[in-house]
Order: sequence, then structure tokens, then C-alpha cells
Amino acid sequence: IDRYAVVGYPIQHSWSPFIHGLFAKQTGQAMSYTRLAVTPENFERDVGAFFASGGKGLNITVPHKQSANIVTRYRTPRAEIARAVNTLVWRNDGLLGDNTDGAGLVIDLTRNLGFDIAGARILLLGAGGAARGVMGPLLAAAPECIEIANRTKQRAVELAEEFELLGTVRGCTFEDVSDGVFDLVLNATSASLQDDIPPIPRTAIGPATLCYDMAYGKGDTAFTRWSKTVGAGRAETGWGMLVEQAAEAFLLWRGMKPDTKPVLEAIKAQA
Ligand code: ATR
Repeated sequence: IDRYAVVGYPIQHSWSPFIHGLFAKQTGQAMSYTRLAVTPENFERDVGAFFASGGKGLNITVPHKQSANIVTRYRTPRAEIARAVNTLVWRNDGLLGDNTDGAGLVIDLTRNLGFDIAGARILLLGAGGAARGVMGPLLAAAPECIEIANRTKQRAVELAEEFELLGTVRGCTFEDVSDGVFDLVLNATSASLQDDIPPIPRTAIGPATLCYDMAYGKGDTAFTRWSKTVGAGRAETGWGMLVEQAAEAFLLWRGMKPDTKPVLEAIKAQA
């Protein structure tokens, strides 16, 4: 039986075993999928041991996504652009690193939520690893612009500069977000984890705005709850992105794409 796992620290709350378990059942694939708690000091050693003992693939989560490329021999272009790896694939000639996070977000927005990224005015909140990971795939879908707003202005400006050849991108603080309503406001800060919301102007959000939190939890996050009170047309948490990035990893490992809809319904019912 082919073995897979998710590696992180902490890892006990990861939904990945649940998701991949349902994918395997649905597609009739014989595979196991477990959780591995691995600290940064032991990352190289433990990942090496997993593959040396016949493991076929790993998902990589906090805090290892930025350092996971040290164990790879090859990386996909989207992993290079994100400068982060969330999926490792065993190959006879060396490990392949991919990043399916941005694709997962874009698939959730377009296919599941019916949002048209082409021509959209996007406000991206945050300029850390989570924000960088989605920039390439979002820009590839040709939005009108992406404005990156961050608490630390310098980080937003640097991230915008890094991607300026791929589209219209601007970095700023929460205070100097451009006037007018955005089509999509995407929360990629870790503020939700502290039940906090970034201080963005209410005028950025209108009845046609989709507010999307890349974080997820039981019901609303602080950001989706606040979005609704200021009149957002729609507010969604990141469950869809989580399931879709997993489906992209599954495709890479098993050569087939599972049906994500029943899995997303199951996870929302159980969370
Ligand atoms: P991740 O990999 O989750 O993106 P990160 O690289 O540490 O983690 O980035 C965290 C992001 O959340 C940053 O954009 C951070 O802002 P700073 O760059 O100013 O640190 C943002 N962030 C964290 N807590 C926040 C809060 N309470 N309010 C607003 N932004 C916050």
C-alpha cells in the first residue's frame, strides 16, 4: 500500500488525512495517509527517513513550507515563483517539490464560487508566505490589479515589486488602500488565528464584493463575520482552497483528479 503523510508542527488538527482518505475511497486508490509531527531541527532527517522507507509523497505545512525546497531535487515553476513547497513527490531520480496552494485558491474562486478573476480589482491583505503563494496563480488569471495591503508597508512594497512584471500590482499599508470598491478582498494575514481583523477601510467593500479568508474554522472567521456586517455581497472561509489544493496534490501523486464537492460538504458538516 502506497504511503503518504502531512508534515507540520503542530499537526494534530490537520484535516488532510480526512480529505485524502475520502479522495482515496472515492477513486478506489489503495493508499494510507497519516500525520507526522516534525520540528524544524528534524525536518531533513525525518523527511529523508520517510522516503527512504518507501513513502510516496508528503504534504508540507506550517512551519516548513519555505524550507521544504532544501530536500527537493526538482521544483515546478509555480513552486519556484511561490518560493515555497507544499507537496513532495517521490521520483526515482530525486524528490519533486510543487506548490498547489495558489491553484487551489484559483480553482475554489472560479469553479466553486463562480468568481471571475479576469478583470477583477483585488485587494490582498497580508504580505507573508501565504500571500506570496497565491500571487502567481492569481496574476495568471489576469485581474485588473492586485493591491497588497500590509501592516508592515515595506513587505507589501517588496512583494509587489517581485511580481510587477506579471501584472499591475501595488503595495501599501491598510491606511492608504486606494479609493473605491474591490471585487475581491482576500485575507492572507494570520490575524484570523488571533481572532483579529486587519484594519481595512469599509469603503473597500460593497454589495458586489466577495470577501475571502484563506483561514478556516468552525463557521465564520473574525474576517468573514466583520465583512458581512460592513455589507459584503458574499463572505467565504478557506475550506474550499484547502480541499482544492489537496485535490491538486492527489492528482500529482495518483494521476487522477477526485471530485471535491462531496468532500467539501463533508468537511463543512464535521468542522
Ligand atoms: P504566513 O505564512 O501565514 O503568511 P507570515 O509569513 O508570518 O505567515 O505572515 C503573516 C502575515 O500576517 C503578515 O502579512 C503579517 O503582517 P506583518 O508583515 O506586518 O507582520 C500579518 N499579520 C499577522 N498578524 C496580524 C494582525 N494582528 N493584524 C494585521 N496583520 C497581521
